[in-house]
Amino acid sequence: MDTMETVAINESRGIERIVEGVATSDGAGVKLTRVLAGQLQQRLDPFLMLDAFASENPDDYIAGFPDHPHRGFETVTYMLDGHMRHRDSAGHEGLLESGGVQWMTAGRGVIHSEIPEQVDGLMEGFQLWLNLPAQRKMGEPWYRDFTSDAIPEYVTPQGVTVRVIAGSSNGVAGAVTREVTEPLYLDIHAPAGTEFSTALPAAHNAFIYVYRGAVTVGGTKVDSRRMGILSNTPDANNVSIRADEAARLILIAGKPLKEPIVQYGPFVMNTQQEIYQALNDFRNGHFA
Ligand code: CO
Repeated sequence: MDTMETVAINESRGIERIVEGVATSDGAGVKLTRVLAGQLQQRLDPFLMLDAFASENPDDYIAGFPDHPHRGFETVTYMLDGHMRHRDSAGHEGLLESGGVQWMTAGRGVIHSEIPEQVDGLMEGFQLWLNLPAQRKMGEPWYRDFTSDAIPEYVTPQGVTVRVIAGSSNGVAGAVTREVTEPLYLDIHAPAGTEFSTALPAAHNAFIYVYRGAVTVGGTKVDSRRMGILSNTPDANNVSIRADEAARLILIAGKPLKEPIVQYGPFVMNTQQEIYQALNDFRNGHFA
């Protein structure tokens, strides 16, 4: 082994592509930016969707997301600021508040609603869809709320605060772990002039989304309200993120499933036949 190989072990990933996202609305008219959808589902396998929402105008969020079904994947809602009431057909109910996370495994199917419990002020956060492996798509639904206090956190010597929602980072285990997709979900608060690094298996697909300030990864700047897709390089098994100005961002990574993805709205399965089955089961009341 020569010395170059030794050096390469700590190589950081770079930015392959910057994504702006598309302004849209969902539910009963909630305004949001869809950052991950369509073609990016293959590139960022096992992630199926990322919506970013941020508004101080109640007209943008007040109607929320009335009853709707899901099958075949997991939804992870991270509330930076705001209050949202969740109810589902499996009997779960909870209030998601600032800094909290709601993790729902739809499995074979749930019907749920997500309705704001505030009439004014800022509502800001993210909803991520994480795919389930084929053999778990028809498993039992599962649901948990994590209050802000229940999200493990650490502070680096440089003063970067890291909230570990899923996976583990620099020896700190997060609130949720998943075996097959091994998701990592960090919320990183970086003061100006700091650099943050965390291990990231080279084969895992990964991206950042900056929601305050701007950061630089491998010489590429990623501005606020932008996703940066991290390149997969065989020797790069970590990521280094530099904040020349104060910045906040989420870092999300996971192990690709490499299975067919067939989506029809809120159902994500492996074949068209399974989608027909989902529609039939929903119409026949088998989700409740
Ligand atoms: Co939903």
